[in-house]
Amino acid sequence: MKNTVATLMSQKQSGDKITMLTAYDYTTAKIMDECGVNTILVGDSLGMVMLGYENTLPVTMEDMIHHTAAVTRGAKNAFVVADMPFMSYQTNVYDAVHNAGRLIKEGGAHAVKLEGGAEVCEQIQAIVNASIPVVAHLGLTPQSVNAFGGFKVQGKSAERAQKILNDAMKIQQAGACAVVLEGIPAALATIITKRLTIPTIGIGAGNGCDGQVLVYQDMLGLTTDHIPKFVKRFASVKDMMCQGIEAYIQETKAGTFPSEEHTYSMPEDILSSLQMED
Ligand code: KIV
Repeated sequence: MKNTVATLMSQKQSGDKITMLTAYDYTTAKIMDECGVNTILVGDSLGMVMLGYENTLPVTMEDMIHHTAAVTRGAKNAFVVADMPFMSYQTNVYDAVHNAGRLIKEGGAHAVKLEGGAEVCEQIQAIVNASIPVVAHLGLTPQSVNAFGGFKVQGKSAERAQKILNDAMKIQQAGACAVVLEGIPAALATIITKRLTIPTIGIGAGNGCDGQVLVYQDMLGLTTDHIPKFVKRFASVKDMMCQGIEAYIQETKAGTFPSEEHTYSMPEDILSSLQMED
């Protein structure tokens, strides 16, 4: 069944938890779609997990469109959300609508996601007015890494928690169809989830949200360096990849691969009819 904004909304109402995972390419999106994930996020985290940058700031619109188009070719039923990269919407409302439109037209996304609260409400409203669903993103918003002084849990003081709660109400009023809550105390995320009529999707925000999102390389055990506290490893895919790659190296070097099973044969008479030129 195709997932839409309406599906997410009815999941909130019925208490059926929303599942969201990141994907950045055709093959992974197709697998996730076949597994039945509700929503695929083409996150600007691709800057870190696919392109090797230190943070998400260098990611461009061209990067996002390229990866979003690959994902939408693979996902038939999942609702695909594409991240708006740093400085593609903060500058002004025109840029925000223009770039959101590109992610829909050129990338085939069903919705866009952008970071921030009150300060981006004008942009959210304008994008929604252009008939593009917007997912907001509050709390530990990675594009603000320099302002935060690192990837730190947000909303721990009364003042900061109040600002996030107020922002949540404002982005809903501006027309956002859902909000990602990242890196905030679980109790705050639960309060926000109860106050909002739109779904909340948490990452490092406890289990009181309407759904969860994780970066797939983290949850499948492909990334092994720094793993945040909120990540649960549901599989050890890196170990399986290493086993396969090491077996390939060993068999290729030993000459046991390819065996007859993986080789094309040719009838003897055709082979012997070949003229050998000097
Ligand atoms: O870019 C991303 O992957 C994200 C998730 C961490 C929510 O924004």
